[in-house]
Amino acid sequence: MDVVVVHGSAADIETPFLVLPIFEEQAEPSGATRMVDDLLGGEIARLIADNEISGSLGEVTVLHVAGGSAVRARRVAVVGLGKRDELAPENVRIAAASAARRARDLRLNALATVVHGADDGALDPLEVCRVTVEATLMALYTYEAQRQEPPKTRPPERLVVVEADADRARGFEAVAATARETAEVINRVRDLSVAPGNVVTPAVLAERAREVADRHGIEITVFGKDELAAKGMHAILAVNAGSVLPPVLVSMRYTAPGATRTLAVVGKGITFDSGGISIKPAEHMEFMRHDMTGAATVIGFVDLAARTKLPVNVLGVFAATENLPSGSSYKPGDVYRAYNGKTMEIVNTDAEGRVILSDALAWTAEQKPDAIIDLATLTGACQVALGDHATGLFSNDQRLADLLLQAGEVSGDRCWQMPLWPVYGEQIKTSMADVRNTGGRRAGAITAALFLKEFVDGTPWAHLDIAGTAYADGEQKWVAPYNPRPGATGVGVRLLWHFARAWKDA
Ligand code: BES
Ligand code: MN
Ligand code: ZN
Repeated sequence: MDVVVVHGSAADIETPFLVLPIFEEQAEPSGATRMVDDLLGGEIARLIADNEISGSLGEVTVLHVAGGSAVRARRVAVVGLGKRDELAPENVRIAAASAARRARDLRLNALATVVHGADDGALDPLEVCRVTVEATLMALYTYEAQRQEPPKTRPPERLVVVEADADRARGFEAVAATARETAEVINRVRDLSVAPGNVVTPAVLAERAREVADRHGIEITVFGKDELAAKGMHAILAVNAGSVLPPVLVSMRYTAPGATRTLAVVGKGITFDSGGISIKPAEHMEFMRHDMTGAATVIGFVDLAARTKLPVNVLGVFAATENLPSGSSYKPGDVYRAYNGKTMEIVNTDAEGRVILSDALAWTAEQKPDAIIDLATLTGACQVALGDHATGLFSNDQRLADLLLQAGEVSGDRCWQMPLWPVYGEQIKTSMADVRNTGGRRAGAITAALFLKEFVDGTPWAHLDIAGTAYADGEQKWVAPYNPRPGATGVGVRLLWHFARAWKDA
């Protein structure tokens, strides 16, 4: 989608669909909405008075503009921002996404918008510009790759951000461009996440990573099965043992000119998780095609770092394999040695994410990054604990955790921190090995994180359990209109980008 910033009056924009905001319980329109409404003869004000426009969050009311009007748009879409005193960037995202979806439903090829709610200084206009562009592009995402039938509607191809103030408009250019890159990367991550397990295999993930690396001239290394064996990465090989497809460990290095710090991001890339010998129930198992979302996010984040010239070095790493039952599968009771020499007793083959991440994290720690953040659809327990609205955050470094919590608020990818108290570690002790791969039902997300901690060698590290936030399964009571339903959210991309920029100077 094209995104352009135009300096001028909203009334002068030639567009099939001009989006203007209104607050709930607002007696009359204000700002740009007021200016346009005056030219429309007060039609919006009348609709408010008649209770046809309430301004409730995400409400979209489309008015047709008569020929010969001083307003050049064909339609004006009045979008509700909710209550003025509750205004937050998330409300702007919801409003922008709702308006964009309406434009698509009307089969329009373009839309224009003012930057909502920034008039009275409640929000930073640059931030509002960013979230408006991000939410619009995210809202128009659909996954069509597997259907023969062409999509029923084509999404709008052009978004115009119109701004009356010349200085502001100039400032919007860079922000809008970055927001567009961000949303495009998110949509590519969604493509990978939602794609079927027979389509996105470990080799395909490696290929996607290579495409990104080649496009930006980024250094990439792909370890195949033999290299994993030669390096002693027996944990990845154990999970892979039941699959006919070979595993990979991929690392990508984005180097920023003049940067001194390196952020490592590590992703879980289980391209299908059946549970293995500890097989999962059949119901909903198809959603385990999403179990490589951490890896997809790593590829996306490295891509975004290069596209936006992020001022920190990024080492992106992911391990990928299927987890399947077969005569050659790894088994409960088996013991394997990971890359850092630690041994693990396998109690449940369905706790495979932490197993492949053990090798990936140990290898990453050996590269001596300044911090490691891993992303993984790791535990059903985390989904139970936090539902769909927060990513579980676990860290051995409170400064890192605080920066991620802040980045979560700013980016919209909210996180909630859980404890890593050593006492929980009792649950993953065993006499059979250095550690065991499950700690029982209680505190399952925490014991999984404590297992990972064994492999980071004291590096400042944070673990993001995205099991609840990576995709919408259609059963959720509330899915934000910028997220596809059902489908993958692309969680983590915006979070990491905002985090990295704050971390650089922290
Ligand atoms: N990929 C799953 C976790 C998951 C569950 C992600 C639901 C998204 C939605 C993971 O590999 C898994 O199976 N975890 C087990 C761990 C248990 C066996 C200790 C779980 O959560 O049940
Ligand atoms: Mn599993
Ligand atoms: Zn899994």
